[in-house]
Amino acid sequence: MKNARFIPLSVPNLGREEKILVDRCIETSWVSSAGAYVAEFERAICAYTGARYAVSCVNATMGLFLSLKLCGVEAGDEVIAPALTFIAPINAISYLGAQPVFMDCDGYLNLDPVKLERFLREECVRTAKGVKNRRSGRRIRAVLPVHVFGNPCQMDKIMRIARCYGLRVVEDAAEAMGSAYNRGTLKGKFAGTIGDAGVFSFNGNKIITTGAGGMIVTNSKKLAQQCKYLTTQAKDDPVRYIHNEIGYNFRLTNLSSAMGIAQLRKLERFKRIKKKNYLLYKSALSGVEGLSLLDTPEGTSPNYWFYSLIIDKHRFPLSRDRLMQVLARKNIETRPIWYLNHWQKPFRGCHAYGVERAVDFWRRVVNLPCSTDLSSDDVATVVDAIKRSRG
Ligand SMILES: Cc1ncc(COP(=O)(O)O)c(C=O)c1O
Repeated sequence: MKNARFIPLSVPNLGREEKILVDRCIETSWVSSAGAYVAEFERAICAYTGARYAVSCVNATMGLFLSLKLCGVEAGDEVIAPALTFIAPINAISYLGAQPVFMDCDGYLNLDPVKLERFLREECVRTAKGVKNRRSGRRIRAVLPVHVFGNPCQMDKIMRIARCYGLRVVEDAAEAMGSAYNRGTLKGKFAGTIGDAGVFSFNGNKIITTGAGGMIVTNSKKLAQQCKYLTTQAKDDPVRYIHNEIGYNFRLTNLSSAMGIAQLRKLERFKRIKKKNYLLYKSALSGVEGLSLLDTPEGTSPNYWFYSLIIDKHRFPLSRDRLMQVLARKNIETRPIWYLNHWQKPFRGCHAYGVERAVDFWRRVVNLPCSTDLSSDDVATVVDAIKRSRG
């Protein structure tokens, strides 16, 4: 039987507070990037994350592109990036004429630091111009870890390895707004604030949204200044319109920033709801043979953005795709994990190093509904449908 209510995978949660601030933009006609909410949103992101600088951007994809560019990635370089992630950061590498080297994931779907180190030690050579990939002869300039589904990467290890090999680090924290570390050397720090630059996304499906939008954070004053300069058409003289470099029109609008300010005020509440529903799913599914919910890494407090159900094909009677079909028929939206990046047509020729665990996860993971308006009854409905799917 179909549920009366369609249970979507992940939808925005907007209310009166967003409307009041957006209305204010319309009433005052401050709708473009010149409005005061843009800088206010940037300051609020700094205050929340502890990052020294924040520069708004039209979306995280272009924020990643710009961060890589400002970290010195050039045409012909290589950037180490995950095989298992949304394609946006891989596209960002390509916009610069650089190429990805695909890396496997750890047990939490994040870039594996053990394989990263092994790759650099065994497959690369240090030269006067930096680290070179022996196979391609190209310079490796940066590492781009992605905090997948909001679970923080092992940034302490990734940073140590990157610094040891002279590599820059750009964190893709698109999915990890509000995720933090609560133990070890990174205790108290937020995902996205540890590398040379980090990028958050405020796309409609993220934990907080501005419709579309992104934010670049960094502790480097120079990088932040260059970022601001390039996102605003590289204007050297705002009166006579002198531009000494090729810039971009990448700044967020006042309308989007107004939404962002209101959403950021709700982030802690959204995180609590996400965690509560994650724990509900986890305990309700704990007795189901062949199913488990992906754990969160020790020493972290993630934002619980997406919930990943892992299927053991030897102990659960349905394949991942079959389970998705059964749930879809019951009005429940789910999503498989992304097709791996080294299999995508534009990137098939790129170097992929030891990608094994990612292949296993790709076969077995399905994401469950996780919106912040998901009720306990909705969770119970999804769990019930999963249990009944076994026949
Ligand atoms: C891991 C990851 N990186 C980058 C992006 C790109 O973000 P945006 O849509 O803001 O460009 C997304 C999501 O959209 C994402 O999930």
